[in-house]
Amino acid sequence: MADRTGPTLDLDILKAGGLIKQRQPDLFSVRVRALAGNLTAGQLAKLGEISTKYGKGYVHVTMRQGVEIPFVHLDNLERVTEELDEVGLKLGACGPRFRVITACQGVSICNHGLGDTESLAKKIDERYYGRSGLPHKFKVGIAGCPNACIKPQENDLGFMGVAQPILDESDGAECISCGICEDVCPVKAIQLVDGKPEIDLTKCVNDGKCINSCPTGSLRPEREGWTVFVGGKFGKHPQLGWVFDKFISEEEAVELVEKILKAYCHLAHKRERLGELINRIGLEKFREAVQSEQI
Ligand code: HEM
Ligand code: SF4
Ligand code: SF4
Repeated sequence: MADRTGPTLDLDILKAGGLIKQRQPDLFSVRVRALAGNLTAGQLAKLGEISTKYGKGYVHVTMRQGVEIPFVHLDNLERVTEELDEVGLKLGACGPRFRVITACQGVSICNHGLGDTESLAKKIDERYYGRSGLPHKFKVGIAGCPNACIKPQENDLGFMGVAQPILDESDGAECISCGICEDVCPVKAIQLVDGKPEIDLTKCVNDGKCINSCPTGSLRPEREGWTVFVGGKFGKHPQLGWVFDKFISEEEAVELVEKILKAYCHLAHKRERLGELINRIGLEKFREAVQSEQI
């Protein structure tokens, strides 16, 4: 694949996407990638400058946390990519490629966050962003907790931070029977029995609210990590992803992406989304393929 990060514009760059031909002749909307929706102040200033100089003085914020600069003339595309490059901005991906990862801010700022969304996004991005040769587009969304604000279930591959609680007084952190965990649990999975929390794991949604609210630290995560969804998509025939795995670590998540991409490329027809492949062959067959060393 051509290097789309450098300043030189050629046909490969156009094909690789990021430059979306508008309905108006010779005009393009330049798609700029913003990993996990983050842009620095300098990058924002540059986007303002470029859109004023080469566009119509505004940018469009996309559905997937990206930014587009509409109304850039064909003759200015090279200059625009050069100027974006000056502040470390690269073009977004289009077509049958691994797209920019969307992520909420997770533990970086959110009180509900259980997973480090930005770290996972960065690691997956470094290894897979822009990968071509896929049957169709491939989108990844990462949410820091089961509130699922970034909608991981709507992506080809989604990750969601989770924690499963357990009462553990082994190191002297004693439950004082305050009942806060029972009160905060949104699904009534906790009941105090003889003054101690009993957790119904069939009801628990693993949002960690009880763990984060426990004043003595005696409710803590027995298991934590990422729930994985596969096969979600939007468009004309939307569907939510299936749960593929639970409580996997960041490292396991990064490795799993490789295995899922391999199985997807091996099994899918051209222009078949991952969700359509799983509709056709079933989740268990897909799971077997992902776990197989043969592919
Ligand atoms: C009180 C707890 C919550 C907090 C603090 C919170 C915070 C946020 C934040 C910070 C975002 C922006 C995410 C980003 O782009 O980085 C967001 C978006 C969103 N949240 Fe939440 N959220 C909460 C609860 C929920 C719940 C319970 C739901 C659903 C049942 C929900 C659904 C959504 C959706 C759908 C979006 C995306 C909106 C869009 O398409 O732009 N949130 N939320
Ligand atoms: S998904 Fe959870 S961690 Fe992420 S913004 Fe929403 S509430 Fe916060
Ligand atoms: S993790 Fe959330 S859903 Fe599960 S018991 Fe605790 S508060 Fe309830």
